[in-house]
Amino acid sequence: MLKIAFILVLAYLLGSMVPGYWLGKVFYHKDIRTEGSGNIGTTNAFRILGPVPGTIVLCLDILKGALAASLPALFGWHHVNVMLVGLFAILGHTFSIWIGFKGGKAVAVSAGVLSVYNTPLFLMVCAIFITCLILFSMVSVASMVGFTFATCMSVFYYHDWILSIVAITLTIFVFYRHRKNIGRIFTGTESTIPFGLVYWL
Ligand code: G3P
Repeated sequence: MLKIAFILVLAYLLGSMVPGYWLGKVFYHKDIRTEGSGNIGTTNAFRILGPVPGTIVLCLDILKGALAASLPALFGWHHVNVMLVGLFAILGHTFSIWIGFKGGKAVAVSAGVLSVYNTPLFLMVCAIFITCLILFSMVSVASMVGFTFATCMSVFYYHDWILSIVAITLTIFVFYRHRKNIGRIFTGTESTIPFGLVYWL
């Protein structure tokens, strides 16, 4: 029991790390929570800080999810459920101890957890995500489609009930977190990235 509690707290603390916020503060003297979309994730880091810090934030957010999900294997405690540990990292990212229990939209960190839990599904989600970026030029659309795809695959293809419950819950949560983006998509004011069809049309 103590082992499980230890690993869950460690995963939460890992997920709590906010590279987007820290990079902005330390190297650019900017608080990305008060600029652009106000999100601490990759897209807003790209938008406010630039492509290099944006890429670093993407890698670190994915990495912290993957690292958290690897904790049971790293400690050799294979009885601790990987998805449960990953969920605590996602909780840490969305309710970070470092920024007043606020946080991001859980996209990259969830991808990191999935990369360890089910690598083939992670690769498929990446392919869907990139395809949506090419078609729509909106990270928010790609993120929501990616989560929906992962949920459908978990329920209808993998029949993995743990993954299915987590995926359904996270998809609802991710749509909720993207509610402002959804409003902007419908009014045609959602920001596009300089990549893909919609941006160039
Ligand atoms: O991962 C977040 C992304 O889907 C949208 O980010 O900053 O445009 O709200 P943002």
